[in-house]
Amino acid sequence: MRGQDSPRRHLRRPEWVAVAACVVIFVATTAIGQVVTQKVPQLEGPTPAMETGAAAMLPKWVVDDQRKMRAYPDQPPIIPHSIEGYELSVNANRCLSCHKREFTQDSGAPMISVTHYMTRDGQMIADVSPRRYFCTACHVPQADTQPLVHSTFKDMSELGFKPAGSE
Ligand code: HEC
Ligand code: HEC
Repeated sequence: MRGQDSPRRHLRRPEWVAVAACVVIFVATTAIGQVVTQKVPQLEGPTPAMETGAAAMLPKWVVDDQRKMRAYPDQPPIIPHSIEGYELSVNANRCLSCHKREFTQDSGAPMISVTHYMTRDGQMIADVSPRRYFCTACHVPQADTQPLVHSTFKDMSELGFKPAGSE
């Protein structure tokens, strides 16, 4: 039957090139993947994934009441006091009983800053914004432990610029 030849079965040259490229990319990414998995430090420790290891000792929190310097201006400051047993639930917020604007005169605690009264659209509201209600989502206590991953972070004031008012 004329005009109804069966389609050519074998691949043409450009198609072969595409297939070969795919194979090369597949092999290369698998190899890179293996190298990367070996380089990334294992955060969960040496215990194999499906086994239960011995629990590490609880760290000792730093509770010296010294407000720590921030590593960068927008950093949520770390908590320099104990928060053990403080209720932080939908019914009660122990943190606010000291840090809320109305209570800071008696508690002597630093007031939650103005950003904690802003909605995500920048609207000022009378009470702490719901998105800032669960304090420990951003503020955490600090323990004197070895970092899991080495950090090369440099404070911006060490990067060699001349701060305002330094003469
Ligand atoms: C009994 C009152 C009180 C309660 C409750 C309390 N704080 Fe504090 N907080 C303070 C005081 C006072 C300071 C100032 C440093 C100090 O004396 O420890 C402070 C400091 C801080 C700081 C450091 C601020 C800075 O600028 O460095 C953070 C962050 C903080 N508290 C978060 C919390 C969180 C989160 C909770 C709840 C889990 C909480 N606090 C509960 C009294 C309190
Ligand atoms: C979404 C993250 C987030 C949550 C939730 C949050 N904070 Fe903060 N907080 C910050 C950041 C970021 C800063 C520093 C910059 C700023 O003031 O906005 C800060 C600053 C502070 C300061 C220092 C204020 C100052 O002027 O030095 C205190 C005290 C504080 N927070 C307490 C609290 C308490 C108490 C809660 C819970 C009611 C809370 N924060 C919830 C992110 C958060």
